[in-house]
Amino acid sequence: MLLELCEYLLTPCPALARRAGLKREAVAIRARHARNRLAWRPHLEASKAFMLECARRCPRQDLAVVLGSGALLDVPLHELAGMFKRVILADVVHPLSARWQARTLPGVSLAHLDASGALEDALAGREPGDRAGRALPDYLDSLRPDFIVSANILSQIPLAPLALLHGAAAQGLGARLVREHLRALEGAPAPVCLITDTLRLGGEKPLDLLHGVPLPGTPERTWTWNIAPRPEISPDRDYSHQVAGLFLPN
Ligand SMILES: C[S@@+](CC[C@H](N)C(=O)[O-])C[C@H]1O[C@@H](n2cnc3c(N)ncnc32)[C@H](O)[C@@H]1O
Repeated sequence: MLLELCEYLLTPCPALARRAGLKREAVAIRARHARNRLAWRPHLEASKAFMLECARRCPRQDLAVVLGSGALLDVPLHELAGMFKRVILADVVHPLSARWQARTLPGVSLAHLDASGALEDALAGREPGDRAGRALPDYLDSLRPDFIVSANILSQIPLAPLALLHGAAAQGLGARLVREHLRALEGAPAPVCLITDTLRLGGEKPLDLLHGVPLPGTPERTWTWNIAPRPEISPDRDYSHQVAGLFLPN
């Protein structure tokens, strides 16, 4: 608990991310990983392997952009930094562990990005405006990368806005933000590796983590993420997520 508090206080991040609860969540996810290290390992290894497989298919290897890089638990940063001249890690919060890793590798840089474009409006209690559809396409167009990874971020994108908004402003917002992220990836100026959890199992009934929005194709890989084996959430239930990996050649 004390370690988590220190990490929280020492992690720099934009006020937007802190106010939206994403800094707290970044510290919490690392703590959850520490408690469930063994259970998470197959998922993290499957994610890394699929990212590298997709990276090898890219005809040009100048710039790679990793969206939702977070604590780099599922990102093979050393290998990507060896393959691409430059790697940009894009997230609203870069935990200390990710900052340290990035610092040791030439060509790796950090970018603070609200990939949803929705946080500012949501924090003001407003339904997200046009920026929600433009933030990610504009960012990717400005960089002209050779490879884009959406690293287990898709199902997370709606969480903070949905926690901040209620009533009409939240109506259909989850599906909208998932759709906008997928639209940005499908229209991106580079090949994309999309890895996302899709379905949560373990509760009374399965929960669609993508708010009913279909994936942009049949996944090349699927696997199970044992995200919360007992007693992480419940003493008598194990929670798992179905995960999909897709390559969009664009
Ligand atoms: C489940 S974690 C992904 C795991 C991460 N790839 C790792 O290896 O640690 C989801 C990530 O999405 C980020 N995220 C959530 N909403 C975001 C947003 N609007 N813009 C950018 N990143 C966001 C979180 O900060 C977090 O790092």
